[in-house]
Amino acid sequence: MSAESWWKSAVVYQIYPRSFADSNGDGVGDLRGILAKLDYLQHLGVDVLWLSPVYKSPQDDNGYDISDYEDIDPVFGTLADIDELISAVHARGMRLVMDLVVNHSSDEHPWFLESRASRDNPKRDWYWWRPARDGFEPGAPGAEPTNWRAYFSGSAWEFDSTTGEYFLHQFTRRQPDLNWENPDVRRAVYDMMNRWIERGVDGFRMDVINLLSKTEPFTDGHMYFAMANGPRMHEFLQEMNRQVLAGKGLITVGEMPGVTVEQAEHYTDPARHELNMVFTFEHMHLDAVPGEPKWSPRPLPLVELKANLAKWQTGIVNGWNSLYWNNHDQPRSVSRWGNDREYRVQSAKAWATVLHLMRGTPYVYQGEEIGMTNFPFTSFEQFRDVESLNWIAEARAKGVDDPTIMNSLRARSRDNSRTPMQWDDSRHAGFTTGDPWITVNPNHAKVNAAAAVADPESVFHHYRRLIELRHTMPIVVAGDFQLLVAEDPKLFAYLRTSDDERMLVVANMSNVEVRFAVPDDFSGGEVLVGTLSETLAPWQSYALYASAHG
Ligand code: GLC
Repeated sequence: MSAESWWKSAVVYQIYPRSFADSNGDGVGDLRGILAKLDYLQHLGVDVLWLSPVYKSPQDDNGYDISDYEDIDPVFGTLADIDELISAVHARGMRLVMDLVVNHSSDEHPWFLESRASRDNPKRDWYWWRPARDGFEPGAPGAEPTNWRAYFSGSAWEFDSTTGEYFLHQFTRRQPDLNWENPDVRRAVYDMMNRWIERGVDGFRMDVINLLSKTEPFTDGHMYFAMANGPRMHEFLQEMNRQVLAGKGLITVGEMPGVTVEQAEHYTDPARHELNMVFTFEHMHLDAVPGEPKWSPRPLPLVELKANLAKWQTGIVNGWNSLYWNNHDQPRSVSRWGNDREYRVQSAKAWATVLHLMRGTPYVYQGEEIGMTNFPFTSFEQFRDVESLNWIAEARAKGVDDPTIMNSLRARSRDNSRTPMQWDDSRHAGFTTGDPWITVNPNHAKVNAAAAVADPESVFHHYRRLIELRHTMPIVVAGDFQLLVAEDPKLFAYLRTSDDERMLVVANMSNVEVRFAVPDDFSGGEVLVGTLSETLAPWQSYALYASAHG
């Protein structure tokens, strides 16, 4: 593997700064809080830290609404703090990735303030302005230019009375979409990215990046399909690559809702000079009722999940996969797909085993490595996330009853993963000395980093081992993937093979015992992680290694 593709044997750790560690007692996590936890992250063994946005922001969507791309929000610290953090991360041999949110800005960004000021402002064309629908009074009900719904409820168009036109926002009304057709917008973004690279950052996680190129003309229909992977997407990414990324040994991962294997292969094929890898969503939608939004949960069909992952494992050939179960937009996987009651530790380990030994770059979301769970929400007042709050309003307006809404939020709200990192069993889990911006999970007395680090059988030490295997075993990085027992509704098993090595990964993803006969050619193999037995206890998992010639 060339030095240029160092990220193929790396593990990325995502920090949601607001909820990670608070150094100054204001109840919100910050950069100096992260600085104080680098020893912990180094002990875990991760290579790259990805920070969710810390730029200046009105925080309508917790920082995914940026009003100054080149400054730090005071709630997180200062530019001097980020410089210190970058140096400290580098001094430990780790790398730092920033979140790049350029499909949209905040409505408080000076670009947008100018753009909305008048129809002939030089920045008018930096965003998407459209007149009212023909025959409608601007601002009147139904006058929106198209029928598109925003990802976070309501119309994707907001009327602006200053100029009597509408602007497009695929997320909240405070996140207007930037117009990437305009070369000045692209130039401004590339210059900003280059300045962050000069500051020392090692790459970018690119927020909803496949929404940048829009398909025109805008017509009624389903926005999600009209807007993803537009006609100039590859051109924009190749231009960004030439202007910013090429030859710098960075890591890039593009978040891409609605992306298919074929498209992802194009986005990540190194010969095309676009991105290193993408985040797909297909596997995240399998536990929703088909055709329904995420708020209609159903039990995870394991057979479908395995088939989907196998399709990505074998379908990405020249490109590269990212691997994840968790992030700041998803509920906690141990509650979602594991058993966070009697088998919390075992099921967290089982999901980790099957994820980390696939082909691709694994992402660990803060708290996942200690088996943090969903939050036991009991009242609507406990929610902070704009998506959840908008959903409550929309569902109530549609006449959905409160208990049904609460069930969907408990299963799916993004706030499940945004409660504070649980460091120890003290008040507020050691996250803050003040009042946390969102409640700490009451289970922190038991589920916390201090306890996990001290216990060699913990989820934490299982993650350490898996990360170590990626660093030391070429087969984990490079081996081919082959799914086993595809139709088994309880077992998740696969092979990794190369010319001279083989690895077998087996996990019982259920609450009952299951048998799996170890193939003969693995007899006498070396157990890399977990415990080997032919009758697997609930959520038992292991990996077995053998050289190809016995
Ligand atoms: C991405 C982010 C999410 C954010 C949205 C809009 O999906 O991960 O947190 O709300 O984009 O920026």
